[in-house]
Amino acid sequence: MITVKNIYKKFDDFEALKDINSQFEKGKINLIIGKSGSGKTVLLKCIIGLMKPTSGQILFDNRDFSIFSEKEQKKMKMEMGVVFQGAALFDSLTIQENVMFPLDMLTEQSMEEKLERTNYCLQRVGLENTNHLYPSELSGGMKKRAAIARAIAPKPKYLFCDEPNSGLDPKTSIMIDELLFGITHEFNTTTIINTHDLNTVITIGENIAYLQDGCLEWQGNKENVLTSDNQKLNSFIYAQPLTQKIREFIKQ
Ligand SMILES: Nc1ncnc2c1ncn2[C@@H]1O[C@H](COP(=O)(O)OP(=O)(O)OP(=O)(O)O)[C@@H](O)[C@H]1O
Ligand SMILES: [Mg+2]
Repeated sequence: MITVKNIYKKFDDFEALKDINSQFEKGKINLIIGKSGSGKTVLLKCIIGLMKPTSGQILFDNRDFSIFSEKEQKKMKMEMGVVFQGAALFDSLTIQENVMFPLDMLTEQSMEEKLERTNYCLQRVGLENTNHLYPSELSGGMKKRAAIARAIAPKPKYLFCDEPNSGLDPKTSIMIDELLFGITHEFNTTTIINTHDLNTVITIGENIAYLQDGCLEWQGNKENVLTSDNQKLNSFIYAQPLTQKIREFIKQ
């Protein structure tokens, strides 16, 4: 579980996050939703330690890593898997080298152990036999899956994904959602995903935080996200063209 307490983030005079308080649950898909510029990426960056909040506290299973030593923080990095927006694979490395990268950086494992883990992760995301290809030889959806394989290689307790479906067609998006859902439940990870994909919201949103203008305006789940009486949430949801799947979901 990740607990976020009284998080503020300021850029000069601009407050990107205003007093965010939330809990992201273990073994569940936790979604951060909200329109462009609402603060999703800033919040995710604060959680994973890429950005320092102006004030507030973030606890990983009750542990505050901001007060840890450098050595402890390196160990902590092993516990985190991150899939950045746009996959962010290293173009000059093969898929095998990309997936093995965190193991090279963070572990003392032998080549044999690293290769075994790499092959397991590639197989888990359905990319077996792509070891010696380069990212430029993969489709967008395959790149995302390779990035997920790299994120899960160090057996993380926490998995973070920023817009994993951006730029993908609806069918491939569903495949990525199912993969992230499966991994989260199989490995009991605390998974946080930033998205504005409504299909994702109603399919895998087990815990949903809605951000607007840097404020946490609503928290709930896929069962009540379409039927809440929160006007701000509804203005976000119903501003989007509703897909067939969502219309059917509403009718139920
Ligand atoms: N490094 C920065 N310096 C100044 N302002 C920033 C910085 N990073 C983000 N912001 C501002 O913070 C606000 C929130 O940005 P953020 O990237 O978190 O939005 P988002 O919800 O992730 O949007 P999107 O859906 O487009 O990815 C925006 O107004 C953005 O301009
Ligand atoms: Mg973003």
